[in-house]
Amino acid sequence: MSTSAVATLRWNEVALELIDQRVLPQRLDYVRCGSAAEVAAAIRDMVVRGAPAIGCAAAYGIALAALEAARRGEAVEGHLLPAFDLLAAARPTAVNLRWALERMHARWRALATAAAPSVAPELLAEAMRIQAEDLAANRELGRLGASLLPQSARVLTHCNAGALATTGHGTALGVIRSAVEQGKQIEVIADETRPFLQGARLTAWELQRDGIAVTLIADSAAGYLMSLGQIDAVIVGADRVAANGDVANKIGTYPLAVLAQRHAIPFYVACPVATIDATLADGAGIPIEERCAKEVLGFAQATWAPSGVAARNPAFDITPAELVCALITERGVARPPFGASIAALLSRSG
Ligand code: MRU
Repeated sequence: MSTSAVATLRWNEVALELIDQRVLPQRLDYVRCGSAAEVAAAIRDMVVRGAPAIGCAAAYGIALAALEAARRGEAVEGHLLPAFDLLAAARPTAVNLRWALERMHARWRALATAAAPSVAPELLAEAMRIQAEDLAANRELGRLGASLLPQSARVLTHCNAGALATTGHGTALGVIRSAVEQGKQIEVIADETRPFLQGARLTAWELQRDGIAVTLIADSAAGYLMSLGQIDAVIVGADRVAANGDVANKIGTYPLAVLAQRHAIPFYVACPVATIDATLADGAGIPIEERCAKEVLGFAQATWAPSGVAARNPAFDITPAELVCALITERGVARPPFGASIAALLSRSG
């Protein structure tokens, strides 16, 4: 099994290429982004999705803006400032987007005295570092999380927190991949994940490619399987974790956590430290993206609801910290009470 089999993002000398996650698994196509505006559109339109992947894509968007300034011989600032605004506004919930932009901003500020032509390669190098560090973080949190799973386990996951949602290996799926690498017998139960079907289209695709046993279920089947004793653990990723351990993740995560507690099944969250937003005391402050209602009414060309019917499409929900058994990060596994354990993780050097 290779963790680099899926190149979610790749730099091709002059542009960022992204797997088009809207058309998987029918087609494996790449979308080329040659400007910050094209990267922002790709994030908004879900060409690239998943918290770490959109953060990394945004970092390349900033590098592209700096390269454009250098090409035109114009002041970097005039290109970078609008690029930061555009990229930051692309999606609101995953804090990794803001985290990556703040890191690019800090790097730019550190280079402030340099001339435009030398800023661009430095910012490109920083985006590449973000990409490499995310992969390394996933491998490490995967290794740490794998030790929480028994030798043989049926693991339920929701959405896609895999190689496609990151720069490789994945967070929730990284834990599963690492467990399989350690010789554990893992069977993944993948929620379909309505309405955008990240589980059916993306998680099922990447696990099948890696030869990891995966069984797809309708989201509504999870409670029944738990009641039959057929789920041993739940592992999900996260888009933002508040200082108290409240977790924003794909819509439908919260009911899974409630069900898991009802059936005494461990509920784990796997994410890099970059997903923790220590500026928020709890999940109430996390902005929840409401996406276009059309995503609920159909998918691609298919529609299944009567035209004109009202629909709502909140894309994420908040799982209270009290339902989370452990937060698996590259700096260690945090356990309740999360206020103290998360603060301890953050104070550890990365
Ligand atoms: O709307 P999406 O597909 O970007 O939502 C993705 C998720 O909710 C993932 O679980 C989360 O970003 C973690 S990805 C490692």
